[in-house]
Amino acid sequence: MSSRIRSIRLDNSSINPKVLHAQYAVRGEIPVKADKYGQQIRDGHGDELPFNAILPCNIGNPQQQGLNQKPLTFWRQVAALTECPELINNAQLFPKDARDRASQLLHEIGSVGAYSHSKGVPFIRKQVADFLESRDGYSADPENIFLTAGASGGVNLLFHLLLCGEPDGVMIPIPQYPLYSASLALAGSRTVQYHLDENKGWELNIDLLEKSLSDAKSNGTETKALVIINPGNPTGAILSEENIIEIAKFAHKHELVLIADEVYQSNIYDESKPFISFKKVARDLKLDTLQLASFHSVSKGFSGECGKRGGFVEFVNFSEDLLSQATKLASISLCPPLQGQVAVDLLIRPPKEGDESYDQFSKEKDEILTNYASRSKIMADRFNKMDGVTCNNAEGAMYAFPQIRLPQKAQDAAKKEGKSPDAFYCMELLNNTGICVVPGGGFGQSPGTLHFRTTCLVPGTEDYINTIEKFHQEFMDRYRD
Ligand SMILES: Cc1ncc(COP(=O)(O)O)c(C=O)c1O
Repeated sequence: MSSRIRSIRLDNSSINPKVLHAQYAVRGEIPVKADKYGQQIRDGHGDELPFNAILPCNIGNPQQQGLNQKPLTFWRQVAALTECPELINNAQLFPKDARDRASQLLHEIGSVGAYSHSKGVPFIRKQVADFLESRDGYSADPENIFLTAGASGGVNLLFHLLLCGEPDGVMIPIPQYPLYSASLALAGSRTVQYHLDENKGWELNIDLLEKSLSDAKSNGTETKALVIINPGNPTGAILSEENIIEIAKFAHKHELVLIADEVYQSNIYDESKPFISFKKVARDLKLDTLQLASFHSVSKGFSGECGKRGGFVEFVNFSEDLLSQATKLASISLCPPLQGQVAVDLLIRPPKEGDESYDQFSKEKDEILTNYASRSKIMADRFNKMDGVTCNNAEGAMYAFPQIRLPQKAQDAAKKEGKSPDAFYCMELLNNTGICVVPGGGFGQSPGTLHFRTTCLVPGTEDYINTIEKFHQEFMDRYRD
């Protein structure tokens, strides 16, 4: 008897089509090429290239090689002590408040090498609840808080609970952070786009929200949730309190789950526009049936600890069923990374005035945030002076999203290479300068417009903008109609 073993070699014809369909431009074709150039330089063959380093402006990753933001000393001291408890009495190397914090955390956690509770260490969730209470003026229940592997882990958790494939949909801003479109593609659900108004500083217009929801309804989409990113990525816009109120009422009226991505809540550069949380507004308005999930992260702000994979989500006004299924789901991946959880504790409990680390911590924090603010301003000012480029000032977050108007000849050249004009422009920028940015198409852009996204994380921003300006002028001259 002959036995035939059927072998399935997974390729694009058999891999889950939802994965094939998902796009994530911040780590897409251009960053992949940038990585290759980076390796070429490290391997000693960089002299074949017209640049000698890669400048990674494709993602908000402040401590990345090439940007090299220094970690906050207090954070790393506590992290080091939780990894090496035997150093905890070393008063020569470590300040008292770092040693006290690490002792306290170790007392609650045990070893950072052990799995924790799937929702995260109970003590840290209690600290998060206290932080939310003092931020918003309303109580928070640690049982509604899940520590997650970055905000991304929390969004994944919620999308798993929320979406059942077709014809479910989620409203997302255009432009958006591609975590949302990619997660929807993976769920096999629909994106319901609402456009932000670039001509009005990326304003969110409530009438457009209504229209996009009713359009979705008429094409059979079951819209389940509304994503708001505040401060915005890639726009840098901060929502006004009035706008937040309108949005919360809109979500409440239409019984949409409100997904408040608030990871940039400490990145505020316009003092006239303070960060206001959706939780506070929902409580002020007594919207007791509005289901709100709000996200925060250790990756952004001034800590930039992206690699720790720390974050949290607070579920507000959700059922016990949802919370218990969320717990089960979290348990399937056991627990969020322990150092990410330690980092969440540091995010929400910085050194206080009078603590030994306070002065140094404040100095480091202020320097980082002042740099982000001044670089954001320099970028917008300089982009606005370039031929065919306009750029809204960033009020917050970490990005600039300039609009570029490219000559027809450049658009034709892009077409010949099978690329969109913005991807062509960004690839040319990389090939000529080593600067890696992301084409606007990766975030979504209004039809007929082209953009790219860059970050405010580059030290020596003037030099870097000079390089972009020189490239831009040469590009425009080469393709002028
Ligand atoms: C708006 C927004 N949400 C979520 C994330 C995910 O961040 P993390 O998973 O590192 O917390 C990012 C990362 O850039 C972001 O910009």
